[in-house]
Amino acid sequence: MGHRNRVHVFRNQEEISPFLCNCWREISTESIRRKGFFAVALSGGRTPVPFYRNMAETLTDVPWEKTHLFLADERFLPPDHPDSNYRQLKQTLLNNREIPFENVHPVPVETPDLQASAEKYERELTRFFKLSPDQFPCFDLILLGIGEDGHTASLFPGSPALAEGKHLVFPVVLDQTRYHRVTLTLPVINHAENIFFLVTGENKATVARKVVCQEDLSLPASRVRPRSGNLDFVLDQEAGSQLTRQE
Ligand code: 6PG
Repeated sequence: MGHRNRVHVFRNQEEISPFLCNCWREISTESIRRKGFFAVALSGGRTPVPFYRNMAETLTDVPWEKTHLFLADERFLPPDHPDSNYRQLKQTLLNNREIPFENVHPVPVETPDLQASAEKYERELTRFFKLSPDQFPCFDLILLGIGEDGHTASLFPGSPALAEGKHLVFPVVLDQTRYHRVTLTLPVINHAENIFFLVTGENKATVARKVVCQEDLSLPASRVRPRSGNLDFVLDQEAGSQLTRQE
């Protein structure tokens, strides 16, 4: 594995957003120079909300017409549901920046069932990245969060989704409180060029230590290890409060 791990601990969210915006700018410039477009997969959850808002305000100088936005995961809900990740992205970023409609690739949720949604999103990835069978897409940037139970995207501890080695997208059946979900699979995530974990708040301090320092493989987030790309953990002081140099 040739990945490079870096850990960044900031005082607060106000310091994190400019850092992430700069990373976005640099990676986007380089990707567009190299191949003409910049492909990103974004997560839902509460943590990235301030960052998406900040991006909408400050990233006025990036070529949005060459930027393609996908979702790392989605709840199988109507797109206007308050817990839809697409809705959140729309309210924080998409409505506030001029991003061409065709550059936004939400998980299709208006399908007969969860399986059909996952299959349709997989076809969309295959089409966009011009993949032949057995190939995985190479996202330039994937932004992930970590749940207190160690889940990331919609890859939960003990889930059959973790064993998926062939498909790009997986339908995740959960209880009603967490909704059924559609998620990118581990091989897709691990083929990315740059992966950022964004983790904030005291309630994430224990899981952050387990993932960053102990690499506890029972936690799905610890199984995110890019094959040759970069892995950056971006934390605030609270989430980083239990990190130690050696474990
Ligand atoms: C989602 C996510 C999920 C999230 C974590 C952390 O749709 O909820 O993509 O993996 O990143 O659950 O969520 P919070 O940021 O809300 O703590």
